Amino acid sequence: MNIGFIGLGKLGLPCAVAIVKKGHTVYGFDVNKKAIEDYKNGTSNLYEPEMDHHLEEALPNMHFVDSMAEVISKTDICFVAVQTPHPPELDGSIRHNHVRKDFDYSYLQKVADDIARAINSCDEKDYKVVSIISTVLPGTIRSLIYPAMQKIISRPIEQGWGLCYNPFFIAMGQTMDDFYNPEFTLIGERLSGETPSKAGEILAQFYDTIQDSPRLKMTWDNAETTKMSYNTMIGLKIVFANTLMQICHNTPGGDCDVVSEALSLATDRLISKKYLKGGMGDGGACHPRDNLALSYLSDTLGLDYNVFDFVMTTREKQTEWLADLMCQHRLPKVILGRTFKPETNLVVGSPSILLANILQERGEEVVFYDPVTDPVLPPEVASVYLVGTMWQEFKSFPFVPGSVVIDPWRFIDRVPQNVELIAIGRNSGKQLAPD
Ligand SMILES: NC(=O)c1ccc[n+]([C@@H]2O[C@H](COP(=O)([O-])OP(=O)(O)OC[C@H]3O[C@@H](n4cnc5c(N)ncnc54)[C@H](O)[C@@H]3O)[C@@H](O)[C@H]2O)c1
Repeated sequence: MNIGFIGLGKLGLPCAVAIVKKGHTVYGFDVNKKAIEDYKNGTSNLYEPEMDHHLEEALPNMHFVDSMAEVISKTDICFVAVQTPHPPELDGSIRHNHVRKDFDYSYLQKVADDIARAINSCDEKDYKVVSIISTVLPGTIRSLIYPAMQKIISRPIEQGWGLCYNPFFIAMGQTMDDFYNPEFTLIGERLSGETPSKAGEILAQFYDTIQDSPRLKMTWDNAETTKMSYNTMIGLKIVFANTLMQICHNTPGGDCDVVSEALSLATDRLISKKYLKGGMGDGGACHPRDNLALSYLSDTLGLDYNVFDFVMTTREKQTEWLADLMCQHRLPKVILGRTFKPETNLVVGSPSILLANILQERGEEVVFYDPVTDPVLPPEVASVYLVGTMWQEFKSFPFVPGSVVIDPWRFIDRVPQNVELIAIGRNSGKQLAPD
């Protein structure tokens, strides 16, 4: 099939490449001309395994075109993966102060309008599927994007064109792999169930060529809600796991990994192992911001409780607790790892940065060391180090004698002599009294 892609950023490019590698031809358009030039030369600048190699292999069937109209005219399905940014202060790396806002849909709105104009110039017999991937709050397609497109397109929806909301469930650093192996595929349509859309059918046929996960057809609103609740339930799971970590840390005989391991076997009544591990707060470009946006929606809908604000506040309190533990030691403060997780160069929504901000509020100076973002070793003086991210190389980090290492991940196995290792979430050194 001929597939279009509008927005070839962190999500769009690896997915477009993955589609080409399954035998399709992709016509892609992005306003970032510099990025497109790099892509044409086989350089993605993305921290994804073997991305440039995959890109180079895909290039013969990957056409970077100059206009959205060209994408629409040449393709059957057009995916839209442009940014829907949050206000920078609401990424989870600084205190949220209970501020709640929706995302900025101006990029998505502009693309939807341009696509609508392009569809309007196409023949009605040439059915076009528009498939939006960008993350949006529930109700956005129905109340904002679709009406704006319908205003421009002279034919009603389903007459020569269709619109699906089709979010992807991928984690940065494993985008292609997650695209090929999703737990399910959401196909959001205007009407659900009995009146399936042609667009949804075409999209399902396309996915038959990619993977065989369950296809879940539902309304746009339900697909939007499922996507955002997936991300935010991870945040909820993490604050829960971190609460167990805090309890176990203060309980003689406590070990949060033993508790999490046991809970993770309850796959019938509870859930999987993933994210059920005490450590730093949830991070990244999606999860904290999605919680904050759903906080906004909870208020807008007049809910008399706000579980998303609760998650974000708990995440912040748990980070404050780590700051307390660091401040118990009158030593320079070093955070190991600025990125939001290992094996990435992304720092958006990083819990390590939130921790640094909280320490700085208290007048502490903070030095970062990170293999990618801050590769200069900290001064060789005894310090209190906090392991913010599980980069492998931290296991053999040259900790200076006289230092304290605080490890919320229980990841460091050994430290040099005269260095104290505090594995957070395990009995914090208080021995059980013998029977
Ligand atoms: N990154 C993820 O892990 C992930 C996962 C699932 C969903 N999402 C969602 O997908 C969307 C995109 O995320 P991303 O991380 O790829 O963002 P990104 O900023 O890396 O990429 C967006 C791309 O869209 C391009 N763009 C903007 N306006 C355009 C226009 N008018 N025409 C053509 N291209 C245009 C930008 O130049 C950029 O390259 C967001 O809504 C995000 O929340 C992201």
